[in-house]
Amino acid sequence: MNKKIVVITGSPRKNGNSFAMTEAFIKTVEAKGHTVTRFDAAMKNIGGCHACTTCFKTGKACSFDDDFNVLAPAILEADVVVFTTPVYWYSFPAQIKGVIDRLFSFCVAGKDISGKECALITCCEEDDLSVMDGVRIPYERTIALLKWKSVGEVLIPSVLNVGDIDKTNGVQKAIELAERI
Ligand SMILES: Cc1cc2nc3c(=O)[nH]c(=O)nc-3n(C[C@H](O)[C@H](O)[C@H](O)COP(=O)(O)O)c2cc1C
Repeated sequence: MNKKIVVITGSPRKNGNSFAMTEAFIKTVEAKGHTVTRFDAAMKNIGGCHACTTCFKTGKACSFDDDFNVLAPAILEADVVVFTTPVYWYSFPAQIKGVIDRLFSFCVAGKDISGKECALITCCEEDDLSVMDGVRIPYERTIALLKWKSVGEVLIPSVLNVGDIDKTNGVQKAIELAERI
């Protein structure tokens, strides 16, 4: 079955470590015949949730009309949603956190987005897997609430500078994750 995959990235660094893994992931799933919609949150106009709870009342997901409203229809239709991001200050970078916060719109409006598959690709500088807990744990709690099923997590420590990912098995792990979809 060909699947619709939404890939949401968090890095502003186009040639960075998470993008290298993202690109290997996308190339592999596209070669399998899946369709990818990529949303580079750090290159988009996207803010946080205003908690106005008027979601979908204007005909669009969010009454604050920014690029989340471009992404929302793709998420509604997706079979698979992939989050791929570096760790910033033991958490998500602000721009991708904006996307995650605004998944709230589907809950407020009673949209059934349960049953999707999902995955996490992340990396950080420090040589300690627990540094990625600030991304991994919210990912796991969020998908449990949304009733999504994780296909896998790629967690790569010890990458700081552009190109460091090539000294790890991160790209290979991203390809293996893609093979499972
Ligand atoms: C603002 C900022 C905050 C960061 N915070 C952390 C951190 O808390 N822990 C860590 O290990 N690395 C941290 N890093 C390092 C990045 O996670 C690391 O460089 C990663 O490889 C960047 O991925 P990218 O190349 O895909 O952007 C931070 C980097 C930046 C720019």
